[in-house]
Amino acid sequence: MKILILGADGYLGWPTCMYFSDLGHDVYALDNFSKRKIELEFGINSLSQNYNIVQRIEEWNKNIKKKINFYNCDLLNHRNLYSILERVRPDAIVHYAEQPSAPYSMHSREAAVFTQYNNVIGNLNLLFGIKKYCPNTHLIKLGTMGEYGTPNIDIEEGWLNIEHKGRKERILYPKKPGSFYHLSKVHDSNNIEFATRNWKIRCTDLNQGVVYGIETEQTKKNEKFFNTSFHYDDIFGTVINRFIAQAVKKKNLTVYGSGNQRRAFLNIQDTLNCVRISAENPPQEGEFRVFNQYTEQFSIDELADIVISAAKSNGIQIKKEKLKNPRTEMEKHYYNPKNESLIKLGLKPISFNETLASQMISKVLKYSEEIHEKFFKPKVKWVE
Ligand SMILES: NC(=O)c1ccc[n+]([C@@H]2O[C@H](COP(=O)([O-])OP(=O)(O)OC[C@H]3O[C@@H](n4cnc5c(N)ncnc54)[C@H](O)[C@@H]3O)[C@@H](O)[C@H]2O)c1
Repeated sequence: MKILILGADGYLGWPTCMYFSDLGHDVYALDNFSKRKIELEFGINSLSQNYNIVQRIEEWNKNIKKKINFYNCDLLNHRNLYSILERVRPDAIVHYAEQPSAPYSMHSREAAVFTQYNNVIGNLNLLFGIKKYCPNTHLIKLGTMGEYGTPNIDIEEGWLNIEHKGRKERILYPKKPGSFYHLSKVHDSNNIEFATRNWKIRCTDLNQGVVYGIETEQTKKNEKFFNTSFHYDDIFGTVINRFIAQAVKKKNLTVYGSGNQRRAFLNIQDTLNCVRISAENPPQEGEFRVFNQYTEQFSIDELADIVISAAKSNGIQIKKEKLKNPRTEMEKHYYNPKNESLIKLGLKPISFNETLASQMISKVLKYSEEIHEKFFKPKVKWVE
C-alpha cells in the first residue's frame, strides 16, 4: 500500500510512519511543525525526543528497503498539498494533522480561531484534493470520542437510527462536544460525511479515546532515535501520561473536580493496530464509516488509583489532589459508548493496569530531570 501520513511529526504520527514502514508499505510522511510552534509559544517541551523528524527518518531509512519520504507541507496550502497528492496518489491517507489540544483551543479567541481554521480548512483542502487527484483513496481521519460529549443515552458508532412521528431515519449521531477543539472535529465529520455522499469518496472516521503510552514495537528498536514525543504538560499532556510524570516527580496526582468523569482510553500501540485494521478493511465507495476507537473506560479517580498503586510498587508514596475543575463538564454522568466494530475486525486490546503503569513509570524515570513541575497544574480555564 502507498500510505500518506499527515501529522507525521506528532505523538501518533511518527510511530504510525515506522509501523507501516515495518509492515512493508510505502510510507509518505507530511507535517508543517505547527505543534512545535505552539510548544515554543508556551515554553513547553516533550520528553524523550532527541532528534528532529528529518534525522529520525534518516536513521530509520538506513535499515529499510522502502524508505520513508518526508514532505514539509501545511494542509492550509492547498496547492502544495495538491501537488503531493498528484505525485503520490496514495491508496490510504491517515489524517492526524490537526491542532489536538482542548485547553489550547480554550486559551483565547486567537487560539480558538487558529484551531478551527487549521483543522476545518485543512481537512476541507484535503477533501478537495482527494476528489481531484485520488478519488479512490481511503481517508482514515482521526476524530475523538470527545465529539460526543457525555449524553444520557448510549453512544453509537457515529450513526443513530431514529423514529420520529412514525417515520424512520439514519442520522449522524447528535454531538455535544466540550471545547472549540472538539467542535472542530465535529465540523470535520460533517464535511467528510457530505463529501463521501456527494463525491463518492470513502472515509473511516476514527473517534478515538484518550491515548496513553510512551513506547511501541518500533520505538523500542532504538529509543535514542525513534522515541515519540511525550507530553505531560497542561496543554498537550493527556491524563495518564501526566499522572505518570507526576508520579515520577513524587508529586500528588492532580484530579480535576470530583474525578468521577468517565472517559474512553487506549494504548498508543492499539492506535497503530486500529489504524492498520481500518486500512486493511476499507469502506465502500461513498461510505462514511465511523468506528469508536477505544478499548477501556475509566473515571479519572480510578486512573489515579491505578497510578498511585503502581507508584507505591516503585517505592513512591503519593496521593490524589483534587483541584477545582478548570473545564465545563459533567462530573457525574451516564457513559456507555459502543466500540464493537474494531474488535470484530480483530483488535486485541491492551489493558491499562498497575503493571503497565509501573512499566511506564520506570521508563519515564529516565527523563525525570527534563520534567518541570510548573507544567502540572492547569492554567487555561473554560470560563474566566
Ligand atoms: N493523542 C490523543 O490522545 C488523541 C486522542 C483523540 C484524537 N486524537 C487526534 O489524533 C491526531 C494526532 O494526535 P497527536 O496527539 O499525535 O497530535 P500531535 O499534535 O502530536 O500531532 C499532530 C501533528 O500534526 C501537525 N499539523 C497540525 N496542523 C497541521 C497542518 N495544517 N498541516 C500539516 N501538519 C499539521 C502538527 O505539527 C503535529 O506534528 C489529532 O488529530 C488528534 O486530534 C489524539
